[in-house]
Amino acid sequence: MTTQLSPRIADPWTADALARRYDQVRARTEQLAAPLSPEDQTVQSMPDVSPTKWHRAHVTWFFETFVLAEHEQRFAPYQDKYWFLFNSYYEAVGPRYARAERGHISRPGAHDVGSYRGNVDTRMRDLIDSLDEGTLDKLAGTIELGFHHEQQHQELLLMDIKHVLSVNPLQPVYDGSPDQPGTPDRLGWVDVEGGLVEIGHDGEGFSFDNELPRHRTFLEPYRLGDRLVTNGEWLDFMTDGGYDRAELWLSDGWGKVTGEDWRAPFYWQQVDGVWFEHTLHGTFPVDPSLPVTHVSHYEADAYATWAGKRLPTEAEWEHAAQTLADEPDETANLANADTFHARAAGPATGGLRQLFGDCWEWTSSAYLPYPGFHPAEGAIGEYNGKFMSGQMVLRGGCALTPPGHTRASYRNFFPAGSRWPMTGLRLADGGVR
Ligand SMILES: [Fe+2]
Repeated sequence: MTTQLSPRIADPWTADALARRYDQVRARTEQLAAPLSPEDQTVQSMPDVSPTKWHRAHVTWFFETFVLAEHEQRFAPYQDKYWFLFNSYYEAVGPRYARAERGHISRPGAHDVGSYRGNVDTRMRDLIDSLDEGTLDKLAGTIELGFHHEQQHQELLLMDIKHVLSVNPLQPVYDGSPDQPGTPDRLGWVDVEGGLVEIGHDGEGFSFDNELPRHRTFLEPYRLGDRLVTNGEWLDFMTDGGYDRAELWLSDGWGKVTGEDWRAPFYWQQVDGVWFEHTLHGTFPVDPSLPVTHVSHYEADAYATWAGKRLPTEAEWEHAAQTLADEPDETANLANADTFHARAAGPATGGLRQLFGDCWEWTSSAYLPYPGFHPAEGAIGEYNGKFMSGQMVLRGGCALTPPGHTRASYRNFFPAGSRWPMTGLRLADGGVR
């Protein structure tokens, strides 16, 4: 099959640079899995969650399928059946094992998955070493997509193991430690002029196809909250009957509140009148200075309605991030920090705080193709485009996002009722005219 990719690279990759980056990304996945036993790595605690060892194998399958199968001389799959077990959703590649039943698979075990990874790593390094310049140029985009794909799964691995550990009454800890408690401060506002602006990836460096093409859009003047909504503010919402007042909720959201008995954010639990929050570094009393996280789009929208505000559109968020943000990774709380959790906003700066990292921010925008969007050709075209239905866009990244994986144009997406991803919110309104 032919894969033609939208992602472009600023400078052509050299074989050395590609091999080095390959090793870094692959090693990071293993580092994240290292605190987990083979038993931890096998559990699927709900249909949306995949076992850790499945993530480790699937990202390996991606390189085997989209790179080695097409370019390795005398290619043979490591194990025929692995193509069935570790294909996620690529119809063009063939049938696959049921997503909701990945936790039923005890073999290959975590150790065998390590052997699979090692085999593909050796073959990938050999392939990269052997490529002539022309083939390297053609193939670098697919290999680079494999890096970003694996980074997305690094984040999912953490979100998923958080849920796996949360259902265990022993409250096991993954890793990390709490941050210093912060001081809750008053929400400030940042005015943005708007007008005819451009959003979408600008062509410098990597992007996924869903960030393209860059295009114009018109924005009325608006304001954004200068930080994320905090746990303390969320407790005020709860105390004021936030989960009991139908008038605050979208109809589908109210259906969830009543049908699934939502009373608080996903990982909160009340014990003897005190709210506790499950995190990857343990279970602690809810800290009012931290951003609220693991709330659905419905909850975020209800909170904004209660506060007399609204959620930003994805264009408002991206335009502000392009024009007002500092360099994304320099101060952001991403998966390189050892809390693996959102942390309190730093002192007010007059600008936008917590824009990248901490929690993915729900927007009011449905996940739709940009004007002129074309998915890539071949199986890789299934990466993003076919999911543009029934999902909402989130922006910014979270404390489980790998460093180097955030950018102003990045479009994450989840169904509006999702609560297991690390999601929070920033308020917006029309500003003072
Ligand atoms: Fe994947």
